[in-house]
Amino acid sequence: MSFSVAIDGPAGAGKGTIAKFLSEEFNLKHLDTGLLYREAARLVIQEGVDVLDVVHLEKIAEKVNINNIAEENLRNEKVASVASQVAVVPSLRRVLTQKMRDFATKIEKKYQGAVLDGRDVGTVVLPDADIKLYITADEQVRALRRTKELDEETLEKVLEEIKQRDRRDQHREVAPMNAADDAIILDTTFLSIDEACEKAAKIVTQGMSEVLVKTKIS
Ligand code: DC
Repeated sequence: MSFSVAIDGPAGAGKGTIAKFLSEEFNLKHLDTGLLYREAARLVIQEGVDVLDVVHLEKIAEKVNINNIAEENLRNEKVASVASQVAVVPSLRRVLTQKMRDFATKIEKKYQGAVLDGRDVGTVVLPDADIKLYITADEQVRALRRTKELDEETLEKVLEEIKQRDRRDQHREVAPMNAADDAIILDTTFLSIDEACEKAAKIVTQGMSEVLVKTKIS
């Protein structure tokens, strides 16, 4: 039995921290799917590719090596902004989505399953995931959290970038950021990170026991 957990939501809502927590708590293999878009963005910047050159962008997606991504080079707003621009390109998404599905299906025996977080995991990448969470929070609170993480940026600048990115992620034609119909919504605006993790863990425990009951019945 291998469990799949899909976590989606906007930047700064806490989905990454929650996904890491759940991966340790329930022994799940973790993938932050945003890193694949960020790595594609890094390559786009490095190679000077035009974000409108869709043929070249598909090749860039093929170059993304899921096993060799240096996260420390990708956590800045420049990369984040280019990531959300290239994320509108369907051919690039197709290639990256396939890499994510391969990750989620090849689960080594030492794990109980996988947890993937991003923007379209529950809707597109793993539509049959056992448990789906959509983590959200007020945009001002998300901007404040991000500003604390990135000590060189001002709150106003981060808030503007978050608004712009949310707009782009929510309104793109392919796989827009959205809660799946069967996702459980967790609003972290008034929660500490510990409280949010605890709530998410309760949902996963409940979801896992329901899956086990269903498996026994069928
Ligand atoms: O979660 P993040 O901030 O690292 O994501 C960077 C960008 O990648 C985000 O603006 C949208 C895109 N993305 C996406 O389109 N689909 C995903 N599953 C994950 C990220």
